Amino acid sequence: MTGKNVKRVAVFISGRGSNLEALIAASKVRDCPYRIVAVLSDNSEADGLELAARGNIETFAIPRSDFGSRSEHEAAVLNALNAIEPDIVCLAGYMRLLSADFVGQWKGRILNIHPSLLPNLPGLETHKRALSLGMRIHGCTVHFVSEGMDDGPIIGQAAVVVRTDDDEDVLAARVLKAEHRLYPEMLRLVATDRIRMSSGGATIFDDASAPDCDDIVLISPVPLKR
Ligand code: GAR
Repeated sequence: MTGKNVKRVAVFISGRGSNLEALIAASKVRDCPYRIVAVLSDNSEADGLELAARGNIETFAIPRSDFGSRSEHEAAVLNALNAIEPDIVCLAGYMRLLSADFVGQWKGRILNIHPSLLPNLPGLETHKRALSLGMRIHGCTVHFVSEGMDDGPIIGQAAVVVRTDDDEDVLAARVLKAEHRLYPEMLRLVATDRIRMSSGGATIFDDASAPDCDDIVLISPVPLKR
């Protein structure tokens, strides 16, 4: 991958930054088609900012509390983004809804990761809700961002089996591990133009049509009798 083909990625975070860490780690691998050029946060205390600074990545702390209104805050975020000039923006635990105007300006170039198999369980407390609904399969989704919350054409998903003895923390940890595998892989697909957002959803540009896994997996709460 020549330098000119390597996509510039800005990552937006609000807190811990473990997905950011996974994206940075994957970007260090030889021939990675993207590099993280900036990390932006609405929370100046976000652990992920420190992590980025340690990796010599430019950081921008733009707290919401510094601005009188949501739109003023977003204008400052947009200004910073236009100065960074990334090819792709990755939301990685950025807990703020972007306006239709913002999304429109960066259409098809913003990705998000969410800890559920969308369109199931958008919003918060996804693991708790998955458990109380008795879901046997849970997981995470990487998608292109559109105007709604946790909404937009799906790029890829990782399924996580829910175990009968799972509690919220145990399940959350397993889904997070899946997120760390899924996000770099899906970003790689976008960075190499193998999938793009289109009016009908997401268009895939690749020779292979079959997914890279078994077609059917049965998940039973108890072992199935043979
Ligand atoms: C991740 O689980 C991510 O999927 C979620 O926030 C967490 C951030 O963790 N995002 C959403 O819920 C978006 N709706 P991290 O800061 O350790 O990456």
